[in-house]
Amino acid sequence: MAYPFAADPRPTVLIGGRGREFAPARPHSPVPKQELRGGTFVLARTGTRDAQGNVRSGLFDLPEIQSRPDLYGALAELERLIGLGELKTFVFELVAFVLVSERRRQMGLRVQPQSYHMVFSGSPGTGKTTAARLLGRVFAALGLLPRGHVVEVERADLVGEYIGHTAQRTRDAIQRAMGGILFIDEAYSLARGGERDFGREAIDTLVKAMEDHRERFLLILAGYEREMEEFLATNPGLPSRFPFRLRFPDYTVEELLAIADLFVEERDYRLAPGARAALERLIVREKRKFYPPFSNARFVRNVVEGAIRAHAARVLREGRMSPQDLTLLTVRDVEAWEGGFAGEGTNERGLRW
Ligand SMILES: Nc1ncnc2c1ncn2[C@@H]1O[C@H](COP(=O)(O)OP(=O)(O)OP(=O)(O)O)[C@@H](O)[C@H]1O
Ligand SMILES: [Mg+2]
Repeated sequence: MAYPFAADPRPTVLIGGRGREFAPARPHSPVPKQELRGGTFVLARTGTRDAQGNVRSGLFDLPEIQSRPDLYGALAELERLIGLGELKTFVFELVAFVLVSERRRQMGLRVQPQSYHMVFSGSPGTGKTTAARLLGRVFAALGLLPRGHVVEVERADLVGEYIGHTAQRTRDAIQRAMGGILFIDEAYSLARGGERDFGREAIDTLVKAMEDHRERFLLILAGYEREMEEFLATNPGLPSRFPFRLRFPDYTVEELLAIADLFVEERDYRLAPGARAALERLIVREKRKFYPPFSNARFVRNVVEGAIRAHAARVLREGRMSPQDLTLLTVRDVEAWEGGFAGEGTNERGLRW
């Protein structure tokens, strides 16, 4: 079997856990980023171990994956995300199912089309939107969806002001999502108003479209776990229409720090050891607060971006521009952010400068 990327001049992708890295058996990679450093190696689950005891990626070595750069790229990006074990397991099984279905079809065996509508449950910033975008790419690359784009809406985009208006707006949203994913954030709010609320009209329209266009669009409902459970319980026909439920648990402090490492690396910065410790203190403190709800990876992203702005102001002020100065985020940069955060009373979604 000839590997189509054997002549690819780009560097080998390294896949490894924190502190241990290794090159998979594949000679070259279509992924431009040099390193993959995910926290959970679910996609490598079928892998064997190399001499050092590191797991080699099973999925990434398959010629069926290597010959599809879109699929390979999406999987590599997914693997790079920290945690998200349930999502990775789902994708692993999905890819396996499609590959095996292709073999079965070649042998003249029956292949049943499946319905993939799903519910994502989790707190803010736990990767739900990111997951939907990646799933769209995976589904498109596998030929399960024609386009794989994601149309993200919430209650206000669907619910109208008079009878019939909501059905129309909902159908419009479905139309825009045709060939891809309709992602409804805080979907439970559609059932909040009770029987006479227009939200019901949106739900009924969605349920009908799920049946009518089964293979042309995918519906993902997202929201907090408890609210989503309550929402599904409002209508006995609903639970069975969503065969896949993926949970996005709150990240641990460790995972959030790993995500911070990923963010700074992507932006060509480094966290000084003291800065990482300061970030850890900040995370621990924010996680404990009852209100506003902790926004997980988004919180970390905002702190990192804030620290980067504080860093820029500092290096200009100090007139220090060596490569070391331009890349190192210090404890003061992280704490400058913290000062602004506390001082101006905005939440972490807000801008302070
Ligand atoms: N596991 C992860 N590894 C790396 N980055 C992550 C991870 N999870 C989330 N992020 C990043 O954190 C940010 C927030 O994630 P995302 O928008 O997907 O969360 P969400 O669950 O959709 O939040 P919300 O419920 O508030 O809409 C994004 O920049 C995303 O890239
Ligand atoms: Mg989101």
